[in-house]
Amino acid sequence: MRTTVGIIGAGPAGLLLARLLHKAGIDSVVLESRDRGYVEQRQRAGILEQGTADVLRAAGAGERLDREGLRHDGIELRYDRRRHRVDFPALTGGRSVTVYAQTEVCKDLIALQLKEGGPLLFEAEALAVEGAATDHPRVRFRHDGREDVLDCAYVVGCDGFWGIARTAIPAELTRVFERTYPFGWLGILADVPPSHDELVYARHDRGFALLSMRSPSVSRLYLQVPEGTDAEAWSDDEIWAELERRFETDDDWTLRRGPITQKSVTPMRSYVHEPMRHGRLFLAGDAAHIVPPTGAKGLNLAVGDVVTFARALVHQRETGSAELLDAYSRTCLRRVWQAERFSYDMTTLLHRAPGATPFEERLQLARLERIASSRAAETDLAEGYTGFPFG
Ligand code: APR
Ligand code: PHB
Repeated sequence: MRTTVGIIGAGPAGLLLARLLHKAGIDSVVLESRDRGYVEQRQRAGILEQGTADVLRAAGAGERLDREGLRHDGIELRYDRRRHRVDFPALTGGRSVTVYAQTEVCKDLIALQLKEGGPLLFEAEALAVEGAATDHPRVRFRHDGREDVLDCAYVVGCDGFWGIARTAIPAELTRVFERTYPFGWLGILADVPPSHDELVYARHDRGFALLSMRSPSVSRLYLQVPEGTDAEAWSDDEIWAELERRFETDDDWTLRRGPITQKSVTPMRSYVHEPMRHGRLFLAGDAAHIVPPTGAKGLNLAVGDVVTFARALVHQRETGSAELLDAYSRTCLRRVWQAERFSYDMTTLLHRAPGATPFEERLQLARLERIASSRAAETDLAEGYTGFPFG
């Protein structure tokens, strides 16, 4: 097989990249190791920054997003039984976010790719990227029980944290920056209308809790748990009771319960792989960086990377200049590190680290009080949450 851009992975990064290239008249092939159902059902992120929603609309993938997505103009911070709303448009000159699950973004992009785009091969596992430092890289992959080769002009590794593309960059040229956190999130989906019309981020002495949603009738909630927790170790009643404790307030707010339809634990990690490019191999999304989910940046960073790559390749096609391709890693990492800083700040602001000292606990409350009482501090949060500029 031969194509201009070989894309490894059909998560949000790979699928959106294929769509952006198709719209620019550049051919690609997407190799996805899992089946379509896995990609479309995997519960991941749920918050689209303003820029992400705009890119999806411009790519022709905004119709259901505009019909079913929920525009949110703020979030609530909850601490010490108090409630503080952060007003995004007032603090950012009009920006908001949209609640629209990553599963739905993937369904929309897969449907478009299968209808209009180039080859999207499911159950096609990339085995290796070869010749990344040459001008004719190739991807060896296995599909339908036999090995094959995809000859490319460029390869973009959109294969997530556990993918193989990264391994094609020589270790001696690589720097990795990472931090793991001694806790994770127990996430649930529940068939019950959300108990608040916006997201609620709660800092509590017992640990962090988050109220999110997937639709007016489906709630998505998270509970900080010790690292290595088994989701099945928590009964539904125990989960609801713990959430109620952590969302407690001085007013008459209550948390509505309902049947839990999905339960899983997500580990927390910060990770950045530098550089994000080696020769004709480019990394995008979770293949290059991971953020703790507290700041809802993961999907949006993946979007920023593939927008940057597509723009750079179009620029090269139109002008013959490789300057934007050569700046790809630097351009992406500027945004990645701002998102890493924001996600780390949100995580350390709201989670109770095992062994946290009374001093550190008071420091958290002082940081929250600062945000609640300073427009400057509140603006920094609102700008980070609604998104950093692309490129
Ligand atoms: N060959 C082919 N496909 C692969 C391979 C491989 N060797 N290894 C992994 N994949 C596929 C995975 O099955 C997955 O579908 O690559 C895809 C990577 O998708 P994601 O992990 O979703 O990564 P990305 O597209 O960068 O999206 C980042 O997803 O993980 C969340 O929170 C994260 O919201 C963020 C978003
Ligand atoms: C989600 O709805 O899955 C979600 C929302 C906000 C976050 C993380 C996850 O910060």
